[in-house]
Amino acid sequence: MNRNRTLPRLLAGALAAAAWWTALPAAAQQPAPVPPEIQSMAAAIAGELAARCPLAEANDVAAFEHCRSALYGDSKLRSHLQPVVLWGRQSTNANATLRQTNLTQFAPDTWTHLYAPLFMFNGRYQVEWVPHERQYVVRLEAAFRNRLAPGQFPYPFWHEEAKWSMYQNANGFLLWVHPHTGRIQAAQFTDRAANPPLHAVRPVQHKFEGKWLWTDGGGRVQPAVTLFDGLYRPENPYLPALDRQYRDLALQMRESQCTSCHVPNNPDKMSRLVLLSTPAHAAGEIDRLIKSVREDKMPMDEFRNSYALKPEDKKWLLESAEVFKSTVQSARAWEAEAAGRDRPVALKPARAMQRPEVSQ
Ligand code: HEC
Repeated sequence: MNRNRTLPRLLAGALAAAAWWTALPAAAQQPAPVPPEIQSMAAAIAGELAARCPLAEANDVAAFEHCRSALYGDSKLRSHLQPVVLWGRQSTNANATLRQTNLTQFAPDTWTHLYAPLFMFNGRYQVEWVPHERQYVVRLEAAFRNRLAPGQFPYPFWHEEAKWSMYQNANGFLLWVHPHTGRIQAAQFTDRAANPPLHAVRPVQHKFEGKWLWTDGGGRVQPAVTLFDGLYRPENPYLPALDRQYRDLALQMRESQCTSCHVPNNPDKMSRLVLLSTPAHAAGEIDRLIKSVREDKMPMDEFRNSYALKPEDKKWLLESAEVFKSTVQSARAWEAEAAGRDRPVALKPARAMQRPEVSQ
């Protein structure tokens, strides 16, 4: 095989090309104009966001739910996401590149269900090529639903004042699009977009109680959104098991040190954080979780060296992860079936009148 020989050569070629590229003045690096596929994708996504997630009161639960089910479902936004999307706030350092910015990794399910719908859009956007990132960026004007109940955020963003402040005052939402795949690799929010704020922000003060999951005054586990509230039907028979089995898994993850790193305050300062701190977050990462434990890649010590768990701990962790995974699958399958059951009912009147079925 000559692969070993060609690879370094290819790399050297790529590096030379990169050096040539960065040596050009900014104007020359601009591949003008933005190609029509990228333009039309940006227009479609901006239009969808304005139609499904329009500006509303920052505490409008119905608007939030509507946006959430639209984006989680068969949306343009979702169909353009990479299998792992990076998400987070724009760095406070204006010169930081994406690579230098801490971001969190999400499965498309998790991001379209828990994060993207917290924003509202007016449909205004710009697309441009960003030479130093070698990506297109779609800059959407946006606002944040800061007045929802605490259980409607995926975790208490107010655990860090600067983070909550940027969320509350967000006026822009950025989608980074890879030029070759046309897929969204990363998304960010910012309070430094060029456009004026879309609404007058009335800031909310919350107190962080030190817990990523908590029980509210009525005995409900919060954040409810991370237990699929509003996403799965309340009569989904797997909901109680999801809650119970996540708790078992969380216990095993605590035993195995996972929770000392994979939590929102990012104690290990990971540049590409993976969150496992709620049922919805863990559900999104369950395959990677099982694989990395099975292969002894996780956990890691404080020097980021992987080590194997004690056989007993590994066995319990993998067992509880498999049980949780199978319930996640059953819950999803039940939802898909329930959606199928609902559909014929909705179509009945049209059939009775012998009208041709209208495809939507
Ligand atoms: C000392 C901190 C630390 C601990 C403890 C830790 N991790 Fe990680 N984990 C990391 C870092 C850092 C990465 C990113 C690894 C990389 O890409 O180099 C990571 C990545 C992962 C990923 C993503 C893997 C992928 O496919 O990219 C999963 C899943 C994961 N960890 C699960 C776990 C589980 C489960 C445990 C407990 C058994 C655990 N981790 C314990 C630091 C930690």
